[in-house]
Amino acid sequence: MKIFLDSSKISEAKRWMPIIEGATTNPSILLKDGGSDICKFAKVMDPKPVSIEACGDFITDARHYSEKVPNAVIKVPLLRPDGKDNLDIIYRLSVEGIKINCTALMSLAQVILAAKAGARYVSLFAGRIEDEGGNSTDMIEDCIDFLEGESRETELIVGSIRTIGNVLDAVRAGAHIITIPPPVLEKMLLHRYSLETVRQFEDAHNKLGGG
Ligand code: E4P
Repeated sequence: MKIFLDSSKISEAKRWMPIIEGATTNPSILLKDGGSDICKFAKVMDPKPVSIEACGDFITDARHYSEKVPNAVIKVPLLRPDGKDNLDIIYRLSVEGIKINCTALMSLAQVILAAKAGARYVSLFAGRIEDEGGNSTDMIEDCIDFLEGESRETELIVGSIRTIGNVLDAVRAGAHIITIPPPVLEKMLLHRYSLETVRQFEDAHNKLGGG
C-alpha cells in the first residue's frame, strides 16, 4: 500500500516526503491552497508522480501538462460537467503514452469502465461515497478483486479521505494507494500515550545524569 499526499502545498510535500510516493491535486485543492503553482510543486515532488486535473479542453490540457511536467499524471474525470463521458479521451491519451488518473469515481461499475479504457490509476472517492450512505470499504474490496483479475497495471487510489478511520478502512480493504490530506497525516502521528512514554523515558535519562 502506498501513501500519496492530497495537497498542492510545497511545504507539505517537503514535510511528508519520507513517507509519500506521489501526490494528487484537483482544482478545489489548488484554490484552497491559495492558487499553488502546480509546475513548481511537481518539481519538488519529482520523480514521484503528481496528478494534475485536466479541465475544459481535456486533450489540450492533458498534452500541455504531460509535455511540461515529466512526472505528471493527468486526471480526467469519467463524466464531464455536461453529462457526456470521457472514455474515448482516456483511451486516446493512454494510447499516446500519457498516464491517466480517472477521477471522481463512485462505483465499481465506473472503475471497470475507466480501467478498460486504459487509465493507469482509478480514483475512488471514499468520503463522498460515504456522504451518500454508500459502503466504501466493500466497494474498495470489489474494485481490488476486479483489478487484480485484470492483466493491466491499473492501481486503485482511494481519495476523499476525511478521517483516520477512512485510512484504516482503505488499508484493510486492500487499497493499492491512499491519498491523504495533510491534517489527517498529522493526526495519524499522534498518540497521547506515546508522548507520555517518551517524556517518562527522557525524565529517567535526565535523572541518570544523561546529557
Ligand atoms: C483525490 O484525488 C481527490 O481529488 C480528493 O481526495 C477529493 O477529496 P474531497 O472529496 O474531499 O474533495
